[in-house]
Amino acid sequence: MMHPYRCEICGETTLMANPPQRCPFCGSAQIRVVPAAEWIDYGKVDMSEQSYKDCQKALDLELKNYAFYKCAAANAQSQMTQAIFERLMEQEYEHAEVFAEAMGIPLPEAPIRSCSSEDAKNMRRSNKHETTAIKFYTEVANRAPEPRIQQIFKAIAEVENEHLMVTNVYLYR
Ligand SMILES: [Fe+2]
Ligand SMILES: [Fe+2]
Ligand SMILES: [Zn+2]
Repeated sequence: MMHPYRCEICGETTLMANPPQRCPFCGSAQIRVVPAAEWIDYGKVDMSEQSYKDCQKALDLELKNYAFYKCAAANAQSQMTQAIFERLMEQEYEHAEVFAEAMGIPLPEAPIRSCSSEDAKNMRRSNKHETTAIKFYTEVANRAPEPRIQQIFKAIAEVENEHLMVTNVYLYR
């Protein structure tokens, strides 16, 4: 039988026979996905000025990466790279929503971003974006005074690291 499992990071629920290994929406690790009855709604977070600025920067990064993957998916050279870019695009969008919700603001419109018509070039560029995000999110996870902000940045940094690995696998094989 399917049971509801809900993600502590993005708040999305999935119906599955077993706990999923990662959140199918934001990519968070299994430890963040709990039985729906145990889920806590953190909603808008009371935060320091610095943390608010950090969330704003993270929101901006996520929307840019979303727009980049959207372009890469539209220009993909195979059904498989298209599938990967689309999933990455959707996960970045979820991440943007997580930051906007923590800040208590509506999700801003995503920018338009250009990309290459070659998958390999897009994978390489995406590695740069992901590396920038990982570095910044890890810094914030270590300095933010709010436990919820630490949790969000730590969880999402870990997902971006997975993104880096996915694109590396398909870039260098
Ligand atoms: Fe992201
Ligand atoms: Fe990412
Ligand atoms: Zn999630």
